[in-house]
Amino acid sequence: MNNFQFINPTELIFGKGQISQIASRIPKSARVLITFGGGSIFKNGVYDSVKNALKNHVTVEFGGIEANPDYSTLCKAIELARAEKIDFILAVGGGSIIDGTKFIATAMNYAGDPWEFILDSSKICAAMPFGTVLTLPATGSEMNCGAVISRRETQEKYAFHNPTGFPVFSVLDPEVCYSLPKHQVANGIIDTFAHTLEQYLTVDGKTMVMDRWAEGVLQTLVELAPKLMSKDASYDDMANFMLAATMGLNGFIAMGTTQDWATHMIGHELTALHGLDHGVTLAIVYPGVMKVMQAPKKEKLLQYGKRVWAVNTIDETIAKTEEFFRSLGVLTKLSEHNIDEHTINEISSRFESRNMNVGEGGIVTPDKVKAILEIVL
Ligand code: NZQ
Ligand code: ZN
Repeated sequence: MNNFQFINPTELIFGKGQISQIASRIPKSARVLITFGGGSIFKNGVYDSVKNALKNHVTVEFGGIEANPDYSTLCKAIELARAEKIDFILAVGGGSIIDGTKFIATAMNYAGDPWEFILDSSKICAAMPFGTVLTLPATGSEMNCGAVISRRETQEKYAFHNPTGFPVFSVLDPEVCYSLPKHQVANGIIDTFAHTLEQYLTVDGKTMVMDRWAEGVLQTLVELAPKLMSKDASYDDMANFMLAATMGLNGFIAMGTTQDWATHMIGHELTALHGLDHGVTLAIVYPGVMKVMQAPKKEKLLQYGKRVWAVNTIDETIAKTEEFFRSLGVLTKLSEHNIDEHTINEISSRFESRNMNVGEGGIVTPDKVKAILEIVL
C-alpha cells in the first residue's frame, strides 16, 4: 500500500427536502452568488427551493454556465462577483456548474490572469467559501477539490486541484435527479464507473479494503443501471446512484492506491476537439486502455473480471465492460462519432508536445495514446 494523507472537509447533506438546510449553513451576512447552467433548475423546481431557502439572504445570480464550463463565461461571473462584493458562492447544478464555481472561487482571491493557475497549480491560492446543490450524480465534484475548465477559443480542456477548494457543504437530494434526461443518467453511470476504475485498475495485491470498496461501487452501478435507465427508477435507486457517484471520486477509494487517469486525460482531448459529453469519451477510451495496457494491468484486469463480471479471461472482461457502456445507449467507437485519424494524430501530438506520459507510473506514453485511440477507431 502506498503512503497517503486523507482529508475531506465537505459536509454532505443527503436526502429528500434537504435544500432547505442551506440557509443555516451560509453566514446570514454573506452576499451570495448563485451559479447555475442552462435552465434545468427552473423546470424541476430546484431554483424555487433554493430561492425559498435563501429568502433572508442577499443573493445575486449568474446563469448560463455551459456543460464543460467555458473560461470566457466564467470570467464574466468573476467580474460580476467582484462588482457585487460576493463573499459566498452557491453552485446549483451538475459537475460543470460546481467546477466552474470552484474556478470562480479560486480566481476571486487571485490577482493575475486566472488561466495561469489552471496551467500552473503552484500559483493556486485559497478559494472563497462555496457550497453546492447537486443535480446530476456523475463527477464527484460535490465532494472533491478538483475542477475541469474548457477553453473553446483554443480547443483546450484542463483540470486543476485546489486543496482549499472543497465545497463547505453539498446537498444531495435524489428527488432532483428525476428530471435528468436518460443520456445524462448514462453519462453519470459511466463517469462514476470510470472514476472507480481509474483508482483501482492498476496494480494488484496491495489495497484489499479499497479494492473491495471499488468493486462494491462497480457492482452497485451494474445492478442499478437497468433500473436507472428505465422509466420507473425508485427513490432508493436514485439515492444509491447519487451516493455511488459521490463515493466514486471523493478521495476514499484512492487511499493507498496507485492511480491511472489516462482514460480521463485522453477523453478530455476528445471533448476539447469535438465537444463530446465527458461520459461518452470515457466509454470510448476505456476499452482501448484495457486492450493496449493489458500486460501491465493483467492481474488487476483478471481480478476485476472475476469479481465484477464473473468471467475468467481478459478478453471477456473487456467485452463485458464495453457491452455495459453500449447497454446504456452510448456508442463506443470513434468512427461512430465521425471521428477519424486526424483527431488521433492531433491528440497524440498534443501529448508529445506537452511531454505528457500518463497512467500509473507514466506508462501511457504518446505512442500508447495513439495505439489506444487506433484500437477504438
Ligand atoms: O445546464 P442545465 O440546464 O442545468 O442542464 C444540465 C446540462 O445540460 C443538465 N442537468 C443537470 N442536472 C439536471 C439536468 N437536466 C435535468 N435535470 C437535472 N436534474 O445536464 C447537462 C450536463 O450537466 P454537466 O454539469 O455538464 O454534467 P456533469 O455533471 O457530467 O459534468 C461534466 C463536467 O465535469 C467535469 C467534466 O470534464 C465536465 O466538464 N468533471 C469534473 C470532475 C471533478 N470536478 O472532479 C471529474 C470528472 O472526471 C469530470 O472530468
Ligand atoms: Zn470523469
